[in-house]
Amino acid sequence: MKKPTKAVIPVAGLGTRFLPATKAMPKEMLPLVDKPVIQYVVEEAVRYGFEDILFVTGRDKYALENHFDSAEALEARLEERGDDEKLEKVQAPTNLGRIHYVRQGGAKGLGHAIATARSFTGDEAFAVLLGDDVIEETSHLLERMREVHMATGASVVALVEVPSSEIHKYGCVKPGSIDGDVIQIEDFVEKPKAEVAPSNYAVIGRYILRPEILDIIDGLEPGAGGEIQLTDALAISARDPKLAGGVVGVVFKGERYDAGDKLEYIKATIRLASKRDDLGPELNAWLKEFVK
Ligand code: UTP
Repeated sequence: MKKPTKAVIPVAGLGTRFLPATKAMPKEMLPLVDKPVIQYVVEEAVRYGFEDILFVTGRDKYALENHFDSAEALEARLEERGDDEKLEKVQAPTNLGRIHYVRQGGAKGLGHAIATARSFTGDEAFAVLLGDDVIEETSHLLERMREVHMATGASVVALVEVPSSEIHKYGCVKPGSIDGDVIQIEDFVEKPKAEVAPSNYAVIGRYILRPEILDIIDGLEPGAGGEIQLTDALAISARDPKLAGGVVGVVFKGERYDAGDKLEYIKATIRLASKRDDLGPELNAWLKEFVK
C-alpha cells in the first residue's frame, strides 16, 4: 500500500445552520478565538504530511481563498511598523502546504463534492477532512487512520461513541469484528432513531478513501436530502468488501468540535480560549463567576 499524501477538503456547503452569519461569508471562515475554523483543519492535514490539499469550493467562498493567499498591502504595513508577531500570523496560512482549488458547481452533497476531486487524486488513496470539523491538535487521529489503511487496504472512517440520544444526528455504523480501536464495518445507517441504531458509533469528518470509492459515487442516485451522499458509497463497499476493499473504522476518544453546529461552535470557542495562556486565566475566572 502506497502512503497517501493528498487531502481533499470540501468547503462548498451552504452552511444553513449558521444563517445569517453565513449569508455572505463561508462558515469555514468563522473564527475559533482568532483563527478561522478552516485553518485548524489545514494545519492538521499538513501536520500529518498531507501537503497537497485540494479545496472543493463553491460560490461566495472568496474569503477562504484569500485567507490562504498573501496579503501584500497588509504585510507591507506590518513590516513598516516592525510588527513581526502579527506579520507572522498573517503569513502563516500562506505557507501551509500546496493548496489547489476546484469548484463543485452546486452544493449537491458531500459525495458529489468529493467526486469532483478525481483528477487531483488520480488512482491514489487520499484523505478527506471536513472543513468544519476540528480535531484536537495532539490526537494523531489522521496518522492512525493512515496506518490502519496501509495495514488493511480498506477505506477508513473516524468514529466516536455518542450517547443513544444523539445518534440520530450522525451517520451510524453496523459494527462487525472489533480489534482494539479498529472496527470492521458491515453497513452504514444515516441518522437512525435511537431504537433502531445498530450501534452508538457515529461517523465524524475524517476519512481515508480508496480511489474506487469515486467510481461507486459516480453510479449513485441522490440519497437523503436529494444529495449524493458519501455514506451511500461507503455502505456499498462495506456490504461487499470485494468492492473497493471494504471499510473499517478507527475509534477516536479525544476532543473534537463540529464547528458547523451552533452549540458545538460556542463550546469549541470556550474550550480553546480557556486553554490559552493569554486568555485562559481571565476567562476561566469569569466563567466560574458566570455559572454561579
Ligand atoms: P454539512 O453537512 O455540514 O453541510 O457539510 P452544509 O451544507 O455545509 O451545512 P448546513 O447543514 O447547511 O449548515 C459537511 C462539509 O461538507 C461540505 C461543507 O462545506 C462542509 O465542510 N459540503 C457539503 C460540500 O463541500 N458540498 C456539498 O454539497 C455539501
